[in-house]
Amino acid sequence: MKQKWLLLLTIIVMLASLLVACGGGETAKTDCSQDATPPPLAKKDSYKVGFSQVETNNPWRIAETESMKAEATKLGHELVYTDAGGSEAKQIADIESMIAQKVDLIFLAPRSEQALAEAVLKAKAACIPVILLDRDVDHSIAAPGKDFVTMIGSDFVEEGRLVAEWTAEKTGGKAVIIELEGTVGSSPANDRKKGFDDEIAKYPEMQIVASQSGDFARDKGRTVAETLLQAHPDTTVIYAHNDEMAIGAIAALEAAGKVPGVDVLVVSIDGTKDATQAILDNKLGATCECSPKFGPKAFEVMAGYANGETFPAKIVNPDRFFDITNAAEYLPEAY
Ligand code: AHR
Repeated sequence: MKQKWLLLLTIIVMLASLLVACGGGETAKTDCSQDATPPPLAKKDSYKVGFSQVETNNPWRIAETESMKAEATKLGHELVYTDAGGSEAKQIADIESMIAQKVDLIFLAPRSEQALAEAVLKAKAACIPVILLDRDVDHSIAAPGKDFVTMIGSDFVEEGRLVAEWTAEKTGGKAVIIELEGTVGSSPANDRKKGFDDEIAKYPEMQIVASQSGDFARDKGRTVAETLLQAHPDTTVIYAHNDEMAIGAIAALEAAGKVPGVDVLVVSIDGTKDATQAILDNKLGATCECSPKFGPKAFEVMAGYANGETFPAKIVNPDRFFDITNAAEYLPEAY
């Protein structure tokens, strides 16, 4: 009888060890919403990774997507790519679809700070870690180091400040300025405005007479510039939050019979090929780089996270500044 019990006990112990060895001893977590840190990422050779892009209406976005796709392919990861077409609602639905597809991690380039912060919380609740690319979300809703791993991107405030500093020097601190803002509620629009506005506040004779969103798009930049130029024909500077809107503004100036670079100085941010060529054509004064080449850094951070590394709230991409003194040298690598 004693032997029978011993045999039964041995079988139970063996079955239990087998279960643990097969992973059956650990129940996969299904709700991480209350956790104090972002969901962990298991160490694997290859991952199924989501990349949620905002839109594909400009060279910057195309270069960012290409960089992400190329690095995923190089490293042998499966990339689930979505393009929100400039819609917050679509981008939230894209994240929900990635959650349903059980991706291992989501790279998110959020269109706006508030609406997409909620999408970050949804991914966290589903125990999927998120790394933000290029734009931030509202930290009072979703916090770095708690709800998402980190944000990789440029210092947008500094970009705006550098453009303002250059403009102040070129104009001798005297200018009538139209500001073409980026997408309403997005971190680059908020921060580039702050950096520029704070810097020119040091110059009493530099005045922003009109400031309106052109949604980071060339055609909208053109129509907004046309309207604002009619209302303010004495404008001497147009500051655009990105190169596409600056190219649109140059077209608006030419249509109004003004000579860009002579009658009105145009300045912007990104470092696209068209903008660099416009500098060489003396139509654009300067552009501050905002690098879209996220692929290598993004996947390096993902691997580090799987290895247990911790990251600061933001990993800052270094940016350069281009004007007539260095645009020709930069042109071959511009996107
Ligand atoms: O978030 C970065 C900005 O978004 C780029 O300056 C702009 O071109 C893009 O659409």
